[in-house]
Amino acid sequence: EAPKPLVGRHAIVTSGPTHEPIDPVRYIANRSSGRQGHAIAAALARLGCSVTLVTGPVTLPDPAGVETKHVETAREMMAAVEAALPADIAVMVAAVADWRTVFDEGHKIKKQANAAPPALQLVENPDILKTIGHHAQRPKLVVGFAAETDDVEQNGRAKLARKGADLIVANDVGHGTGVMGGARNQVHILTPEGTDTWPDLDKDEVAARLAKLIADKLAT
Ligand code: C5P
Repeated sequence: EAPKPLVGRHAIVTSGPTHEPIDPVRYIANRSSGRQGHAIAAALARLGCSVTLVTGPVTLPDPAGVETKHVETAREMMAAVEAALPADIAVMVAAVADWRTVFDEGHKIKKQANAAPPALQLVENPDILKTIGHHAQRPKLVVGFAAETDDVEQNGRAKLARKGADLIVANDVGHGTGVMGGARNQVHILTPEGTDTWPDLDKDEVAARLAKLIADKLAT
């Protein structure tokens, strides 16, 4: 029987993309499969943690032993995360759409011959990680992700302070890395104490190592 250092702890994990409707048939989304977030939820559960997974639309099955809440939009994800508080651990892995359209048209926008394309007016979505990182009920350990294509470590480190996170998992998602939607991930673990660069690993292995690191940090 494997050790279960997270028995009695509650974690909230976000995963997948969000979908922001433009009209009933169209949406804005991010390129995310949910593989890394779902793997982290499962890995925490394997260490005995009670896990609430809040996921955007994905094609993955709900992980075993995890309470999974399905949402579509960033605002629904924010509400589901707050409803799941209190928690000891938050791991915000979702690729949340930064913007949504000002209105979700109730009817399909028609393409008209010779007409200019419609202009989409965008407004900012809530930043879930930043909200949780500064929350009155802030979990003891707040973990975020930083998917970057340039200056991975520097951009990730800026996020630590801005988002109120204890740890940022920074990864290079540039074209050709195959990280978005792929099975593997090469990450840098950024904390105020320093940077730990992990080798290129299967996403399940990244998840297992991260869950172990979270358990170690809560134990000290
Ligand atoms: O600022 P950026 O989107 O790069 O930050 C990424 C981190 O912030 C991830 O942990 C992501 O889940 C989280 N995030 C969020 N809500 C947003 C945007 C990002 O929770 N609206």
